[in-house]
Amino acid sequence: MANLPLKNIIFHFLIILLILVVQTKARQLDIHYYEHSCPQAERIIRHVVHDATLHDSKVAPRILRMFFHDCFVRGCDASVLLDSTDDNIAEKDGPPNKSLRSYYVIDEVKARLEEACPHTVSCADIIAIAARDVVILSGGPYWEVYKGRKDGKISRANETLGLPRPSFSSSKLIEIFSSKGLGIKDLVTLSGGHTLGFAHCASFEARLHRYNDYFDIDPTMDIIFANMLKKKCANRHKRDNNAGYYLDSTSSIFDNEYYKRLVAGKGVLGSDQALYNDYRSKFLVESYAKYEALFFMEFTTSMIKLGNLGVNNHHHGEIRRNCRHVN
Ligand code: HEM
Repeated sequence: MANLPLKNIIFHFLIILLILVVQTKARQLDIHYYEHSCPQAERIIRHVVHDATLHDSKVAPRILRMFFHDCFVRGCDASVLLDSTDDNIAEKDGPPNKSLRSYYVIDEVKARLEEACPHTVSCADIIAIAARDVVILSGGPYWEVYKGRKDGKISRANETLGLPRPSFSSSKLIEIFSSKGLGIKDLVTLSGGHTLGFAHCASFEARLHRYNDYFDIDPTMDIIFANMLKKKCANRHKRDNNAGYYLDSTSSIFDNEYYKRLVAGKGVLGSDQALYNDYRSKFLVESYAKYEALFFMEFTTSMIKLGNLGVNNHHHGEIRRNCRHVN
């Protein structure tokens, strides 16, 4: 009789263990996922992305940012690709995603993949692979992409308001990243994605005029750089909608220049400069500014972690036939 509760406990323990194993398996990604079902998948993606970047230099930064925005909202489930419908405003139309664009590249990839291996490669995996490819095409490091994500069926514009903003302090950024299971190192490393691309004036002009009660210009900025940005963003009501500035002086090359700029007080976004001005992250910025190889190595690790966020398991996802609509 005395053995009965113990047997019960062991039995329940084994059941829980079994459930955990099954769940972990379902969520596990694999670098060989399409090895048999669509061996040409990565080659097709690479070709389409390569062609697109040759025609449009904005494709690389936009796709890298798309991956971040996809994974940070509902996990890496391609929810960022779904179009709005009559009764739902999708992530795409949320304020931070208005400037994403380049969705046509993913559409083109998906169309080719549907011809080659119908209903096999998820849109979420396409974004993850394309993001890796734009990094390589821009001169950055290679990593094996883990695959097997499923596409989600829900996409809500208001959830994009949870994405980090350029006005956020380092503490706020650390908090948001930590809520996703990403540490300070991941924050500093992934922010290195800003080695590519461009920011519109609206993303940084609050630093340039009436910054706070004491300073007109953000005092952490190099003053000559700040005055140059001020000129770029003058005449708010008359200026071109595309007015802004490059996030890095070598904005089409994936390198460690971004970190060197932060050390020099020439970060464009307040959220970038904040990483250098916080003792918890400063040494990482300095290390990456000195050692590009270190940045490259850590970037691959953090991108794999980013790609694991909220990965959709088999029961809640699907393989979309068209990345813009649920099946
Ligand atoms: C740490 C928090 C982050 C904040 C607050 C942030 C914010 C921003 C903002 C405000 C812009 C400019 C948008 C515009 O004005 O059009 C931007 C651009 C960009 N972001 Fe981030 N970002 C963050 C992290 C990341 C991460 C983790 C990546 C990728 C790994 C990334 C990749 C990019 C890229 C490539 C661009 C340039 C886009 C283009 O040229 O179209 N960002 N980001």
